[in-house]
Amino acid sequence: MRRPFIAGNWKMHMTTSEASGLASELVAACREIDGVDIAVAPPFTALAAVGKAFAGSSIGLGAQNMHWEDKGAFTGEIAAAMLTDVGCRYVILGHSERRQFFGETDEGVNRKVLAAFKHKLIPIVCVGESEEERDRGVTFVIVDRQVTGALKNVAASQMANVVVAYEPIWAIGTGRTATPAQAQEVHQTIRAKLAGLFGNEAAAGVRILYGGSVMPENAAEFVSLEGVDGALVGGASLKVDAFTGIVTETARVKATAR
Ligand code: PGA
Repeated sequence: MRRPFIAGNWKMHMTTSEASGLASELVAACREIDGVDIAVAPPFTALAAVGKAFAGSSIGLGAQNMHWEDKGAFTGEIAAAMLTDVGCRYVILGHSERRQFFGETDEGVNRKVLAAFKHKLIPIVCVGESEEERDRGVTFVIVDRQVTGALKNVAASQMANVVVAYEPIWAIGTGRTATPAQAQEVHQTIRAKLAGLFGNEAAAGVRILYGGSVMPENAAEFVSLEGVDGALVGGASLKVDAFTGIVTETARVKATAR
């Protein structure tokens, strides 16, 4: 009942022309793939160009961040309406790099989630522990706090339009991944938390992605796990073959699971 979902996060890579080229290649490469929702989040400056390349395809456009206010004197920020204006359907919120390097808090992420709903954007809410937190044994405490904080004042009826991404920080861009058992237990914890907050039915409809060094070679390991509905992909999303490989693997695994 939950459609598998693979989202690419290009982070601070790609000029407009590079982005257009990669986007067109992705459209061609993913044309035949069935049964998986696909989205890509390029940098702000490339959104319009990538949106143009995705037009008429099934690949959704996403942004990597936004501000919670509708407009105003917020130098350097981007509003939700600016994202929908260029065709965005998704917005990544609370990525660990935003939290680590730009001081994002659970409260700020929550304001952004509520602003995303107001503008009919689907938030991809990122949560995950640092290596130090995992070593201290507080992974579940951290993830619980992030989920609860990000989704404050969200209605159960809105939860079908929330995507959560579990990304252990120590696995992002490092080539290290969580073990399937580690990923699965956090995914289960997140869904149980969502059930506690919004009820079983709403929780069962939320797509929870794994993220952190996902590649074509290891994608099946994660997406075959019960409760893992896809992946949020950084580095590998910058290469057409690698990203397409992850989407293909996901389609294959999920089709067999049905
Ligand atoms: P990675 O990044 O795939 O390069 O580890 C994942 C992410 O930051 O979403």
